[in-house]
Amino acid sequence: MPEASRTEPKIRCHGLWKVFGDAAETACARRGGGTAIEEALAGTDAIIGASDVNLEIAPGELFVIMGLSGSGKSTVLRCIAQLQRPSAGEVWLDDANLASMPEAQLMDIRRHRMGMVFQNFGLVPHFTALQNIAFPLKVRGEPAEQCAAKANEMLDLVGLNGRGDAYPSELSGGQQQRVGIARSLAVDPEVWLLDEPFSALDPLIRKQLQDELLELQARLQKTILFVTHDFSEAVRLADRIAIMRDGRIIQQGRAAELLMNPADDYVSRFVGDVSRLQVLKLGDIMQPSGRAVSGAPKMPASLSIEDMLLTTGGDVSTINVIDSNGRVTGRIDRAQAIETVRNATPGQTG
Ligand SMILES: Nc1ncnc2c1ncn2[C@@H]1O[C@H](COP(=O)(O)OP(=O)(O)OP(=O)(O)O)[C@@H](O)[C@H]1O
Ligand SMILES: [Mg+2]
Repeated sequence: MPEASRTEPKIRCHGLWKVFGDAAETACARRGGGTAIEEALAGTDAIIGASDVNLEIAPGELFVIMGLSGSGKSTVLRCIAQLQRPSAGEVWLDDANLASMPEAQLMDIRRHRMGMVFQNFGLVPHFTALQNIAFPLKVRGEPAEQCAAKANEMLDLVGLNGRGDAYPSELSGGQQQRVGIARSLAVDPEVWLLDEPFSALDPLIRKQLQDELLELQARLQKTILFVTHDFSEAVRLADRIAIMRDGRIIQQGRAAELLMNPADDYVSRFVGDVSRLQVLKLGDIMQPSGRAVSGAPKMPASLSIEDMLLTTGGDVSTINVIDSNGRVTGRIDRAQAIETVRNATPGQTG
C-alpha cells in the first residue's frame, strides 16, 4: 500500500446502493430513516447494481475493482462519477459528498477534476485524434490555442506524435484507446476512472499499455479506479483490489492478501490463475524481525519468491529481508517459503 494511504482518502464510498427498476427506485426514495434498504426492496423486482459498497481510495493509489460480468463494477464507477445517482449512501471526493451535490456543481467537478476512460473508447468518429483530445478542454471553454497546445502535449504523452490528424477509423484499437487515455488526461484530473480500458485489445498491446499506464502513474500520481475482470491485469497494476459479486464487495486488499486468505471459493477461483511465486513477495511471507541472522544473504522485501528461489540454492536456509533503506525487517526460512506457496493454493478448494 502506498505511503499516502495513511492520509485522508481521496475517494470514499459509504453504504453505497444502486438499484434499478421503477418500483425499487421508488421504494428506496420513499424509505423512512429507520428502514433498511433490504426491507424497503422486499417485494419489488429490484435489479441490484451496487449493494452496500464501502471503499476508500487513498491519494495516489491505483485501486482495482474486479468481478464477473454483471457484478456491479461499472455501476460503482458510474456512481462515483455520479453519471448514475446512487439510490442510497455517500460518495466523498475529498471533503465533499457528491451524492448530495447539485448537477451543475458535479458537471464542474467532472470537467476539472475527473478523467474517464470507457471500454468502447467513446471517440467522436468525425473528429481527428487531436480534436478528440482537445474536446473536453473546448467544452470547458478554454481558448483554442491553449486547447491545441495541450492536445499536442497529451498526444506525445501517449506516444502518438505524428498521428494527430488521423481519424479514429484510421487508427488501430490500441491507438484509439491511447487517444481515449490522452483525452481523459487532458483536463489534468485528480481522479482517473478507467472502465475495462484494455479489454478489447490483444494480449501484447494490452501488456504494453499496462506498462505505459504504470509509467504514467509513476510520473503523474493520480488517484485511479481501474475496472477489469482479469486478475493478472489487476495484480500487475493494483495497489489494492476489491472483488465484487452481485453488487457487493466480497473482499478487498492487496493481491497477496487475496491470494493467501481468500474470503470464499468465488475469490479463490478469481485468484487461482496467477502464479503465486510471482505475486507473493518476500515481505508478504517473512517473519518480522529487526535482527539480522549472521551469514544469511540479504534480499529486498519487494523481491518475488520466484526470484528469491532462482537466485538462492538449497544450501541457503535463511534469508534476511531488508526494506528500501537496507534495514533488516524480517527473515525467511527458504524451505518454509516453499511450503507457504504450496499451501496457498486457492482454486483447488472450489
Ligand atoms: N441502466 C440499467 N438499468 C437496469 N439494470 C442495470 C442498468 N445498469 C446496470 N444494470 C444491472 O446492474 C447489474 C450490474 O451491472 P454493471 O454494468 O455494473 O456490471 P459490470 O460488473 O460492470 O459488468 P461487465 O463486466 O459486464 O461490464 C447488472 O445486473 C446489470 O444488468
Ligand atoms: Mg462494466
